[in-house]
Amino acid sequence: MFRYLPEQASDFAHSVDSINNLITDISVFFTVLIVGAMIYFAIRYRKKGGVDHETPRIEGSHFLEVVWTVVPTLICIWVAIIGVYGFRTMREVPADALEINVVGRQWNWTFKYANGKRTADEFVVPVGKPIKLVITSEDVLHSFFVPAMRTKVDAVPGQYTYQWFRPIKTGDFQVFCTEYCGTAHSAMLAKVRVVSEAEFERWVSDTGRVQSPAEQGEALVKLNACGSCHSVDGSAIVGPTFLKLYGRKGDFDDGQQYVADENYIKESILNPQAHVVKGYPHPSPMPAFEGRLSDEDISNIIAYMKSLNEAPKVVVKKPEIDLASMTPADRGKKHYQEKLCIGCHSLDGSRVVGPSFKGLYGREAKFADGTQYKADDSYITESILKPNAHVVEGYPSPSPMPVYEGQLSDDQIKDIIEFIKTVK
Ligand code: CUA
Repeated sequence: MFRYLPEQASDFAHSVDSINNLITDISVFFTVLIVGAMIYFAIRYRKKGGVDHETPRIEGSHFLEVVWTVVPTLICIWVAIIGVYGFRTMREVPADALEINVVGRQWNWTFKYANGKRTADEFVVPVGKPIKLVITSEDVLHSFFVPAMRTKVDAVPGQYTYQWFRPIKTGDFQVFCTEYCGTAHSAMLAKVRVVSEAEFERWVSDTGRVQSPAEQGEALVKLNACGSCHSVDGSAIVGPTFLKLYGRKGDFDDGQQYVADENYIKESILNPQAHVVKGYPHPSPMPAFEGRLSDEDISNIIAYMKSLNEAPKVVVKKPEIDLASMTPADRGKKHYQEKLCIGCHSLDGSRVVGPSFKGLYGREAKFADGTQYKADDSYITESILKPNAHVVEGYPSPSPMPVYEGQLSDDQIKDIIEFIKTVK
């Protein structure tokens, strides 16, 4: 009964699941028994035809008192003993375990093998061998959770923690960060790929040919999770896109002009607060990379950005659309896509950076300051024009959302509200 546990991919899975199932079964059994008895007695001894049901007066029973004290106590001790045995095997790492270093940061995981091989977002292990993960964090608390292996441990800044498991089957298994760690916590994912021992040997000994600066830069961008906030396809997520960034001209929010040359990019990486580009949140939500990237790393990243400028140009001809003939909800959807709301607000209920639009209209919940709100027309209008006026509980404050005041007309906002109403 009630078997909803994920795939079993390590030899811990069986013992973890059996104790979980045992506890579930005991709980279901006693819930049904007790609630069932309550319902039965309530019906059996109810007032019938205006006459109270006469019952005998019972003064207590030592026998029953002993039974319902001793039986649950024995069950709890039994469950605790099984739990301690299971936990002990999970903390005792076999001496021949393959060790991999894991570092968590806002918002990705990186992996380093004994021979120096490094990967991001995915790591490979051989099937049947014990794997020990030595885990730490560079910034805040994270937690490394591999449901299929039934292992989870916190990643703590300034401290090393560990977990181990022995994969029993090949395949790809999901890793989650399971400690709320900021805006992109839900996107802090990784994969463990379990392969045969021969395939693992081939993979781990391939430490890579000599890479060009641009390729190294691309790897650094992945390793440091720049992609959580900076796209390479021209769309604005939280920060500016890297596409055609190099050489771009524009304004800072203090009115100064800038040209995106080497020095601008270097300053933006090492000290993101020094200057913030107009239209982006101030203070910038970007972490400072001072001390985390060398000069060589930065020049490689710049080489990668330059390579994005050379990307083949795809010319897309936009068909002329007659806005007047569209329904308000369709126009709203168009604004949703064109104004890049799509970057932070999903339509399927999943959380990206901001709340999903699914079921948003009419929702009642709390702001971070504890006051209640109802997502009606005026709430949505304010959220678009002045995102920092109120921030919904559980979301970053100040909000990283750009201010749309002056960028959207009243009619466009009405269209967007009509569109949101249709997303249920
Ligand atoms: Cu890292 Cu949540």
